[in-house]
Amino acid sequence: MATNRTFTMIKPDAVSAGNTGAITKMIEEAGFRIVAVKKTQLTPERAGQFYAIHKERPFFKDLCSYMSSGAIVPMILEKENAVEDFRKLIGATDPQKAAPGTIRNLFAKSIEANAIHGSDSDENAEIEGSFFFAKTECF
Ligand code: RTP
Ligand code: MG
Repeated sequence: MATNRTFTMIKPDAVSAGNTGAITKMIEEAGFRIVAVKKTQLTPERAGQFYAIHKERPFFKDLCSYMSSGAIVPMILEKENAVEDFRKLIGATDPQKAAPGTIRNLFAKSIEANAIHGSDSDENAEIEGSFFFAKTECF
Protein backbone atom coordinates (compact mmCIF):
# COMPACT_ATOMS: atom_id res chain seq x y z
CA MET A 1 0.00 0.00 0.00
CA ALA A 2 1.25 3.52 -0.82
CA THR A 3 2.60 5.28 2.25
CA ASN A 4 2.28 8.85 0.95
CA ARG A 5 5.85 9.61 1.95
CA THR A 6 8.98 9.99 -0.12
CA PHE A 7 12.60 10.87 0.52
CA THR A 8 14.68 13.49 -1.27
CA MET A 9 18.03 15.18 -0.98
CA ILE A 10 19.17 18.38 -2.60
CA LYS A 11 22.55 17.39 -4.06
CA PRO A 12 25.92 19.20 -3.65
CA ASP A 13 25.77 21.14 -6.95
CA ALA A 14 22.42 22.72 -6.07
CA VAL A 15 23.31 23.44 -2.43
CA SER A 16 26.63 25.09 -3.37
CA ALA A 17 24.94 27.13 -6.13
CA GLY A 18 22.57 28.63 -3.53
CA ASN A 19 19.47 26.93 -4.91
CA THR A 20 18.29 25.22 -1.69
CA GLY A 21 15.64 27.88 -1.02
CA ALA A 22 14.28 28.01 -4.58
CA ILE A 23 14.05 24.21 -4.79
CA THR A 24 12.42 23.91 -1.35
CA LYS A 25 9.86 26.55 -2.41
CA MET A 26 8.98 24.51 -5.51
CA ILE A 27 8.60 21.37 -3.37
CA GLU A 28 6.24 23.09 -0.91
CA GLU A 29 4.27 24.85 -3.66
CA ALA A 30 3.74 21.44 -5.31
CA GLY A 31 1.90 20.38 -2.15
CA PHE A 32 4.56 18.39 -0.28
CA ARG A 33 4.84 18.83 3.49
CA ILE A 34 8.36 18.69 4.94
CA VAL A 35 8.34 15.99 7.64
CA ALA A 36 12.11 16.14 8.36
CA VAL A 37 15.00 18.26 7.02
CA LYS A 38 18.68 18.96 7.79
CA LYS A 39 21.96 20.01 6.20
CA THR A 40 24.77 17.45 6.29
CA GLN A 41 27.64 15.98 4.25
CA LEU A 42 28.26 12.36 3.21
CA THR A 43 31.64 10.64 3.25
CA PRO A 44 32.44 8.71 0.02
CA GLU A 45 31.81 5.48 1.99
CA ARG A 46 28.35 6.59 3.13
CA ALA A 47 27.49 7.86 -0.36
CA GLY A 48 28.41 4.36 -1.58
CA GLN A 49 26.10 2.79 1.00
CA PHE A 50 23.25 5.08 -0.05
CA TYR A 51 23.69 4.28 -3.76
CA ALA A 52 24.76 0.62 -3.19
CA ILE A 53 22.23 -0.47 -5.84
CA HIS A 54 24.52 1.16 -8.45
CA LYS A 55 27.82 -0.37 -7.23
CA GLU A 56 28.44 -2.32 -10.46
CA ARG A 57 27.68 0.67 -12.70
CA PRO A 58 30.58 2.46 -14.49
CA PHE A 59 29.61 5.81 -12.92
CA PHE A 60 29.58 4.51 -9.30
CA LYS A 61 32.99 5.84 -8.20
CA ASP A 62 32.35 9.27 -9.71
CA LEU A 63 28.88 9.31 -8.13
CA CYS A 64 30.36 8.62 -4.67
CA SER A 65 32.97 11.38 -4.98
CA TYR A 66 30.41 13.86 -6.35
CA MET A 67 27.82 13.06 -3.66
CA SER A 68 30.44 13.56 -0.92
CA SER A 69 31.92 16.74 -2.47
CA GLY A 70 29.82 19.19 -0.46
CA ALA A 71 26.79 19.71 1.74
CA ILE A 72 23.45 18.07 0.94
CA VAL A 73 19.96 18.73 2.28
CA PRO A 74 18.04 15.47 2.89
CA MET A 75 14.28 15.63 3.55
CA ILE A 76 11.35 13.34 4.20
CA LEU A 77 8.24 14.60 2.38
CA GLU A 78 4.54 13.81 2.68
CA LYS A 79 1.78 14.07 0.07
CA GLU A 80 -0.82 11.80 -1.46
CA ASN A 81 0.93 9.63 -4.12
CA ALA A 82 4.24 11.11 -2.92
CA VAL A 83 6.80 8.88 -4.69
CA GLU A 84 5.29 9.13 -8.17
CA ASP A 85 4.33 12.82 -7.92
CA PHE A 86 7.79 13.76 -6.68
CA ARG A 87 9.55 11.91 -9.53
CA LYS A 88 7.35 13.95 -11.90
CA LEU A 89 8.32 17.18 -10.13
CA ILE A 90 12.08 16.48 -10.42
CA GLY A 91 12.07 15.22 -14.03
CA ALA A 92 14.37 12.81 -15.86
CA THR A 93 17.87 11.90 -14.60
CA ASP A 94 19.48 13.66 -17.57
CA PRO A 95 18.54 17.37 -17.38
CA GLN A 96 18.56 17.57 -21.18
CA LYS A 97 15.68 15.07 -21.14
CA ALA A 98 13.89 16.58 -18.12
CA ALA A 99 10.53 18.18 -18.95
CA PRO A 100 10.34 21.99 -18.92
CA GLY A 101 9.57 23.39 -15.47
CA THR A 102 10.88 20.34 -13.58
CA ILE A 103 13.50 20.86 -10.85
CA ARG A 104 16.23 19.12 -12.85
CA ASN A 105 15.32 21.06 -16.00
CA LEU A 106 15.68 24.31 -14.06
CA PHE A 107 18.62 23.56 -11.76
CA ALA A 108 20.66 20.49 -12.81
CA LYS A 109 24.11 20.99 -14.32
CA SER A 110 24.66 17.50 -15.85
CA ILE A 111 23.44 13.88 -15.76
CA GLU A 112 25.59 13.40 -12.64
CA ALA A 113 25.27 16.79 -10.94
CA ASN A 114 21.50 16.74 -11.34
CA ALA A 115 20.43 18.86 -8.36
CA ILE A 116 18.14 16.45 -6.52
CA HIS A 117 17.36 12.84 -5.62
CA GLY A 118 13.92 11.26 -5.41
CA SER A 119 13.07 7.77 -4.11
CA ASP A 120 11.83 5.35 -6.75
CA SER A 121 9.45 3.27 -4.58
CA ASP A 122 7.64 3.36 -1.24
CA GLU A 123 9.99 0.69 0.07
CA ASN A 124 13.11 2.69 -0.86
CA ALA A 125 11.57 5.92 0.49
CA GLU A 126 11.31 4.24 3.91
CA ILE A 127 14.85 2.80 3.77
CA GLU A 128 16.39 6.08 2.54
CA GLY A 129 14.52 8.22 5.09
CA SER A 130 15.79 5.96 7.88
CA PHE A 131 19.34 6.31 6.49
CA PHE A 132 19.31 10.00 7.52
CA PHE A 133 16.62 10.50 10.17
CA ALA A 134 15.51 8.96 13.45
CA LYS A 135 11.73 8.74 13.98
CA THR A 136 12.07 11.43 16.68
CA GLU A 137 13.32 13.92 14.04
CA CYS A 138 10.12 13.55 11.96
CA PHE A 139 7.28 16.03 12.42
P1 RTP B 1 18.38 9.53 -8.03
O1 RTP B 1 18.43 8.09 -7.59
O2 RTP B 1 19.55 10.34 -7.53
O3 RTP B 1 17.07 10.17 -7.72
O4 RTP B 1 18.50 9.58 -9.62
P2 RTP B 1 17.70 8.71 -10.69
O5 RTP B 1 16.84 7.70 -10.01
O6 RTP B 1 17.03 9.66 -11.64
O7 RTP B 1 18.90 8.01 -11.46
P3 RTP B 1 19.70 6.69 -11.06
O8 RTP B 1 19.73 5.81 -12.26
O9 RTP B 1 19.18 6.11 -9.78
O10 RTP B 1 21.19 7.24 -10.84
C1 RTP B 1 21.59 7.76 -9.59
C2 RTP B 1 22.43 8.98 -9.81
O11 RTP B 1 23.69 8.61 -10.38
C3 RTP B 1 24.15 9.68 -11.22
N1 RTP B 1 24.30 9.18 -12.58
N2 RTP B 1 25.35 9.45 -13.31
N3 RTP B 1 27.24 9.56 -15.40
C4 RTP B 1 26.11 8.90 -15.60
O12 RTP B 1 25.83 8.35 -16.64
C5 RTP B 1 25.15 8.85 -14.48
N4 RTP B 1 24.01 8.21 -14.49
C6 RTP B 1 23.47 8.43 -13.28
C7 RTP B 1 23.12 10.79 -11.14
O13 RTP B 1 23.48 11.69 -10.09
C8 RTP B 1 21.86 10.01 -10.81
O14 RTP B 1 20.87 10.84 -10.27
MG1 MG C 1 17.56 6.41 -8.48
